[in-house]
Amino acid sequence: MHVSRQLEDLRQRVADWHLAGERVAFVPTMGNLHAGHLALVEKAREVADRVVASIFVNPMQFGPNEDFGAYPRTEDQDAQQLVKAGCDLLFLPDVETMYPGGTEATTFIEVPEISDILCGQSRPGHFRGVATVVARLFHMVQPDAAVFGEKDWQQLQVIRRMVRDLALPVEIIGLPTKREDSGLALSSRNQYLDAAEREQAAELYQALRAAAQGLQAGESVAVLEKAGRERLARAGFEVDYFTIRNADTLQEVAAADAEAVVVLAAARLGKARLIDNLPVNAAS
Ligand code: PAF
Repeated sequence: MHVSRQLEDLRQRVADWHLAGERVAFVPTMGNLHAGHLALVEKAREVADRVVASIFVNPMQFGPNEDFGAYPRTEDQDAQQLVKAGCDLLFLPDVETMYPGGTEATTFIEVPEISDILCGQSRPGHFRGVATVVARLFHMVQPDAAVFGEKDWQQLQVIRRMVRDLALPVEIIGLPTKREDSGLALSSRNQYLDAAEREQAAELYQALRAAAQGLQAGESVAVLEKAGRERLARAGFEVDYFTIRNADTLQEVAAADAEAVVVLAAARLGKARLIDNLPVNAAS
């Protein structure tokens, strides 16, 4: 696996592949890789001749009181895992390469409406940071396809919309969430949980499943949302939201029978803010 820290080097390698008629798939990450990330790399291998991954802990998507400083940085282990997973090139830009004009007075990508609800409401500016860094990475890497986990369903929809609105020539591929046996979605932030909290955390997935089953049985959206919130609060979570939304727009739905929906939740447990979701009749 080649490691590029410089943009020119990255561009030259990808240009050579394109010149040789090869298709390039891209997996952007913030590092601290787990089996969920490696599944994205595996998918990228399936759909392309060459795989590029990036590791960049993006300061622009963290709020002032969030965990940017504490976010686990494990570059050496990550690189070893990427080699094993068959990644061809690892791009490791620094902040100066990503944001030559700094992170304040720079060009931003704003994806309206969908960025301001749910996680966007409790994390103002988060999706602006995500859309901006992903757009910049797409321009740098020039991939034909990019693979994202469905675990951050809202992020995936923000990126799909940005790609549509800006006519970016990148196929966006969503991959179902990887879970532990308990149902807990794999996440770098699970490290913030102690052993007891980790057991409790599985309740998040169980609550989503109960709501998805209720929807399939024709139960009311409002009743299921309330039941989900109460269940998580009883299990010790501080609930941010537990909601059933249109799978593409993330707008509220009156009933789930007419459209593809997704059950989404965000809740705090100890030091961790956990998010998860379960699509019902929806493709990512
Ligand atoms: O999902 C992530 O890890 C990040 O939000 C992403 C897409 C790499 C952008 O920084």
